[in-house]
Amino acid sequence: MASYGFVKGLDHPSIMEAADRVAWTVDDVFRGRRFDASKPIVPTSWVGTDALAFLEAGEQLTLNHCRAFSYVHLLGNYEEFIPPHLGDAMDNNDHDADLQARSLVRFGQEERKHQALFRRAETGLEKSCGHPLGRYFDEQKMQVAEFTAAILRHPLRSRYLLLLAFEWGTQRHYVESIRERTADALHVDVLKAHWVEEAQHTKWDTLEIARLAAGSSVEELRDAFDHVLALGQLIDATFADQVDREIETLQQVSGRAFSDDQIAMLRDALHRSMSAIVAGYALTHPKFAKVALELEQAGAAKLGIAC
Ligand SMILES: [Fe+2]
Ligand SMILES: [Fe+2]
Repeated sequence: MASYGFVKGLDHPSIMEAADRVAWTVDDVFRGRRFDASKPIVPTSWVGTDALAFLEAGEQLTLNHCRAFSYVHLLGNYEEFIPPHLGDAMDNNDHDADLQARSLVRFGQEERKHQALFRRAETGLEKSCGHPLGRYFDEQKMQVAEFTAAILRHPLRSRYLLLLAFEWGTQRHYVESIRERTADALHVDVLKAHWVEEAQHTKWDTLEIARLAAGSSVEELRDAFDHVLALGQLIDATFADQVDREIETLQQVSGRAFSDDQIAMLRDALHRSMSAIVAGYALTHPKFAKVALELEQAGAAKLGIAC
């Protein structure tokens, strides 16, 4: 392994040991519970519409529930690219092959379980709210197949970087949800379960990034950050669409026709908060910044990360 400081203290056996210790099942997380739709489910800061005075309290609550749904809907679908991505990584290994293969299989299985967790949360939210919640990714999986294929067209290094950032982001989502007391107890438990497994994935991805970087030129590393930006644009397009689904749901539930100006304000506020929570929290996480900076400073600067 190259002498990157960010891999110090990381090794496959201890990561696998931690993975065994924290493992859970979807039933363990839900324990037959429902979300409480009489209150906000996600922190109110995740919605970012407080300043929109034309919204009534009930409408703010509906938007909060929409955002809770959007979060699990988007993350569950984003994670679909991870098992095939790990398959590519398996074709690319050069040493520690057995340990690496076992980790790949283990973490791929965990991501499949996360998808099941998020699907259960989607269904649970619709049941608790008593109405459907708008979704960008269709049930027939056409959109997710397209999205996954588009992600997989980018090089392995850039996918790992994006993944690492998003995994660190899930730590912030959990921590913020317990800090803001408005968040629903079941929502907090879903985020906690996700994070305790992602914590191992961050370590494992960090090892993989170092392994791939060791065989890369400076130009290839810099190029990986350009691809991270391009991947970010793919993700941003899903935010824009999902925000429109949130506004549709709000109109259906409230029975209110908003003016064009109001729709524009809603779209702007909701897109801003979605980008901040899902992409911003990830790409600005100090642990991700540390890896990015040590890999290639000029590349990291493209993501706004500076020493
Ligand atoms: Fe996950
Ligand atoms: Fe993960």
